[in-house]
Amino acid sequence: MQVTFIGLGIMGSRMAKNLLKNNIKLTVFNRSPEPVQELVKQGASSANSVDEAVAEADIVITMLSSPEAVKQVMLGDRGGLASMKERALWIDCSTVNPSFSREEKQAVDTQGKRFMDAPVAGSKPQAEQAELIFFVGGEEPDLLEAEELLQLMGKKVIHVGEASKGTSFKMLVNAMLAQSIVLFSETLLLGEKMGLDQDFLLKTMPGLPVVAPFVQAKTDMIRSGDYDTQFSLELMYKDLHLASITAYEYQQPLYLANLTKELYAHATQNGLGRADFAAIHQFLSEKKQRYG
Ligand SMILES: NC(=O)c1ccc[n+]([C@@H]2O[C@H](COP(=O)([O-])OP(=O)(O)OC[C@H]3O[C@@H](n4cnc5c(N)ncnc54)[C@H](OP(=O)(O)O)[C@@H]3O)[C@@H](O)[C@H]2O)c1
Repeated sequence: MQVTFIGLGIMGSRMAKNLLKNNIKLTVFNRSPEPVQELVKQGASSANSVDEAVAEADIVITMLSSPEAVKQVMLGDRGGLASMKERALWIDCSTVNPSFSREEKQAVDTQGKRFMDAPVAGSKPQAEQAELIFFVGGEEPDLLEAEELLQLMGKKVIHVGEASKGTSFKMLVNAMLAQSIVLFSETLLLGEKMGLDQDFLLKTMPGLPVVAPFVQAKTDMIRSGDYDTQFSLELMYKDLHLASITAYEYQQPLYLANLTKELYAHATQNGLGRADFAAIHQFLSEKKQRYG
């Protein structure tokens, strides 16, 4: 089986590496060349264009930042989809919105190819250790064909439903993730304002049943103020934007996620976009210093 991997950022580079470790015949492509060279050293083939990268592939995996990036790379007259072999399978692992996944599926259907959306839960360490969880939207036979490959990059594959349902589920997960860290951060800051010791709060609060379990993994970042990026704040802002437009499409009110989106917008404007999304704590704490 010939596989092509497109999008070698924080997540994609690590996912591709795990495929290589398992001797998958892999071609890689990325907009900027540096991560390609790294993977070629580990046995991947490179290509001069997206078209060349996908031409011989049985399965093409994309892990790109946003729907706009996926559109540029894969769709339209100059996108890679047109150069894929007939009946080849495109698995988009990027976090996009469900209506965009439906657009992808429609484009694929009109060209006689196959499509699955398979966004992931887990971040940089889980990508590194092949412990991601895939939320799959697509046809059962396509999943059967691809599942072994996904298992080389993850620990669990959940078939949520037809195309776009993986993306739909992932959107819920990230809406909660984005809000939970804001909830934790502003509560922590209030605690400190009341004279409670930050170290005590960071040790005690994450163990409480009212705190989301993932927060534990962010306490070192908050304590040290070093927000080395696992999942960037600007991509979390993108995910909240996608949740917001999806809620509009379904005419479903989404009060808190929309409010939270504006905090991430402001933090991005303040230069924190490329930091880890836990830097929303730094943003809130700067406001505290400025306004008391
Ligand atoms: N990091 C996480 O913890 C995490 C967890 C779950 C899901 N995700 C999702 O996974 C996807 C990738 O995330 P990441 O953290 O790996 O992001 P990242 O490190 O910022 O990488 C983004 C990738 O997209 C490419 N890209 C962006 N705009 C492009 C364009 N216009 N044309 C071509 N390529 C473009 C980048 O290429 P360059 O290298 O040339 O910039 C890079 O390969 C996102 O959808 C994100 O929401 C991330």
